[in-house]
Amino acid sequence: MSRCRRFMWFILLLCVNTVSCQAVVEGFIGDSVLLPCVYTEKDPQPEKVNVYWRDRDDNILLDIISGTHNMKTQNEKFRGRVISPPDLNRKGNFSVALQNVLEDDTGLYECHIPEAGVEQRVQLTVTGVFACS
Ligand SMILES: *[C@@H]1O[C@H](CO)[C@@H](O)[C@H](O)[C@H]1NC(C)=O
Repeated sequence: MSRCRRFMWFILLLCVNTVSCQAVVEGFIGDSVLLPCVYTEKDPQPEKVNVYWRDRDDNILLDIISGTHNMKTQNEKFRGRVISPPDLNRKGNFSVALQNVLEDDTGLYECHIPEAGVEQRVQLTVTGVFACS
């Protein structure tokens, strides 16, 4: 049996200030990666804000409108691959797990919360399969 870890990802958070952060995430093909976006303010309340997750080409990963996931607007390349638990959303954690990543998923992602002035950028790099020995 391989001793390789199936899920390996690294997150490096480079925060300029609390509302404008750039995160760097790396993953291997087939992995699940976490794209972070956490809103810590109480006002406006996390249940009331709208959250717009976009990729580098402005494709929609996920729209959260007043706490409800709008799956109709999601780009088909992300269908079934984006997880963001609503119970965590209610606490202001709008991070998404992007599953089964492809090399083509490499690029810049953005979580935008207009009411709260949050623009979280995440640079994702997906590399070849982890070499198992
Ligand atoms: C946000 O939620 C993700 C799971 O979606 C979790 O891994 C992460 O630790 C949470 N972040 C914070 C700051 O709670």
